[in-house]
Amino acid sequence: MSEKIYPVTKPVKARALIDKEKYLKWYEESVENPDKFWGKHGKRIDWFKPYTKVKNTSFTGKVSIKWFEDGQTNVSYNCIDRHLKTNGDQVAIIWEGDNPYIDKKVTYNELYEHVCRMANVLKKHGVKKGDRVTIYMPMIPEAAYAMLACARIGAVHSVVFGGFSPEALAGRIVDCESTFVITCDEGVRGGKPVPLKDNTDTAIHIAARQHVIVEKVLVVRRTGGKTGWAPGRDLWHHQEIATVKAECPPVKMKAEDPLFILYTSGSTGKPKGVLHTTGGYLVYAAMTHEYVFDYHDGDVYWCTADVGWVTGHSYIVYGPLANCATTLMFEGVPNFPDQGRFWEVIDKHNVNIFYTAPTAIRSLMGAGDDFVTRSSRSSLRLLGTVGEPINPEAWEWYYNVVGDKRCPVIDTWWQTETGGHMITPLPGATDLKPGSATTPFFGIKPQLVDNEGKVLDGPADGNLCITDSWPGQMRTVYGDHERFIQTYFSTYKGKYFTGDGCRRDADGYYWITGRVDDVLNVSGHRLGTAEVESALVSHNLVSEAAVVGYPHPIKGQGIYCYVTLMAGHDGSDALRQELVKHVRAEIGPIAAPDKIQFAPGLPKTRSGKIMRRILRKIAEDDFGALGDTSTLADPAVVDDLIANRQNKA
Ligand code: WTA
Repeated sequence: MSEKIYPVTKPVKARALIDKEKYLKWYEESVENPDKFWGKHGKRIDWFKPYTKVKNTSFTGKVSIKWFEDGQTNVSYNCIDRHLKTNGDQVAIIWEGDNPYIDKKVTYNELYEHVCRMANVLKKHGVKKGDRVTIYMPMIPEAAYAMLACARIGAVHSVVFGGFSPEALAGRIVDCESTFVITCDEGVRGGKPVPLKDNTDTAIHIAARQHVIVEKVLVVRRTGGKTGWAPGRDLWHHQEIATVKAECPPVKMKAEDPLFILYTSGSTGKPKGVLHTTGGYLVYAAMTHEYVFDYHDGDVYWCTADVGWVTGHSYIVYGPLANCATTLMFEGVPNFPDQGRFWEVIDKHNVNIFYTAPTAIRSLMGAGDDFVTRSSRSSLRLLGTVGEPINPEAWEWYYNVVGDKRCPVIDTWWQTETGGHMITPLPGATDLKPGSATTPFFGIKPQLVDNEGKVLDGPADGNLCITDSWPGQMRTVYGDHERFIQTYFSTYKGKYFTGDGCRRDADGYYWITGRVDDVLNVSGHRLGTAEVESALVSHNLVSEAAVVGYPHPIKGQGIYCYVTLMAGHDGSDALRQELVKHVRAEIGPIAAPDKIQFAPGLPKTRSGKIMRRILRKIAEDDFGALGDTSTLADPAVVDDLIANRQNKA
């Protein structure tokens, strides 16, 4: 690993909100006296009723997490209304279309009207506080309006990434019993239409078989393409908003009332509905957005994530808008019309802060520097990254070529569950080391433990836990609090276990090494091996499947599948293609297997447990040291697996 250090530069320090001294002082207070610290910083948002209690959390027993619990506020109010008096004409959202000739700007005044109208449409059709609304949208401003409209009336949104299949969408609709869906006729990505409404129709049929009946579908018109239509159920957004008022009072929400559910993959079973609540989440998202990106009034900020992921929730919509920022929303993809698109958009809109994922950086690095250097990028001040460990080579390229050695690279480690940044540099305070997410944000107490749970001090390599709560933390798994306790607080009693491995160096810097559980990180997207396996075995020729990750130069991890077919069937390239298609249909294109190996048998212990350690090694083409295979029921299967591996160097 690289140990090069990039000290905070003078110009960065000069304008930074937090310098080293302040960081150390605030950090100490935040962990020594969280009530006092967060009691102060909770006031960064407006409260209809101020809180008197700050922190009330426990990581043991039933696990209960409450912040600012007797306060009342509204997220939509904080993201819009409170800015109108002084900043109504400021641009809230810059929208850059997939087509480079199409863009638009939405001011805070306009945002207010759009959100109020959509909220009134929801109310008109019976959506009430606490109801779950599914949002299945492309990257258009209406996606943000929909989220904020839900927040305004106290409905709980569940945004489902537009790249997920109808099956995956249906599963999420069913899990939270959502009877109202907001979607779009078609999305557009890289010049191609994405059939969101048709997918929604299919999903609604699948959900109905599981007795969840979607009653209304609000459809935003994006392309005007042909879609199915169910009269009485389907509603055109542009027609509906013309029938309602442009004002809608924000509902007073308790700090711990749910704001949203976001489904994310775990090591076992179906995706979990991560539940975030109102007050603590917004305080944390807004505060991290301001300090981590050193956001100043007037800055143009661009996060390239999709609103279907947590990064889109916290750092396209809620954090920036709560801070009265100008946030750029991009409909397209990094390589359309060509690989210079990101840098062109930065010049076009004078972007100051740019936040993307290592997988995008690696793939654009591969396209050659010319795509970058033909742009000016002189507006850039800060570069951020998120989603997976960034390799030092990609970090250096990002820093040297994209940022012209001028912009700090802010590597932010966090998770859907954490709501906001957890381990991250602060630009004016933290010297950078390429590949390290560096040091904890205010209030975050990381700890490394070994597999037995023994606490590791000083420089060490271990499993990353967080020992105390922070306001942005998830509160429960929707509808399954027991699973919440089991997943996060039972591996190491009394601690939140992140699922990540991590090294701490002699300077106290943290280096995330990747997941230590059966969660894959493919192009920064989280996927459970169990989900891909269950998609594979749902094919009628597959009797068994085991899925592991392997290092992939662009995606970070690739998906390697071992598939055992039903007796009497043989593998072929045609069947491989069919299985890839099948998994895409079951989950979505992000889950498409990279390698499929047909395996007559899988390495199992005598008790029938698949030894994934061996499968990982073979997938990595590193089978010299398979370790002890003597506990296998049939050691001979290993020879066959090695002989037929798909990753031969
Ligand atoms: C990984 C995305 C290294 C990690 C915000 C984590 C990272 C998982 C980083 C969460 C980073 C995210 N360095 N690894 N800067 N950021 N990860 O829930 O394994 O989609 O547990 O949240 O991504 O992914 P999720």
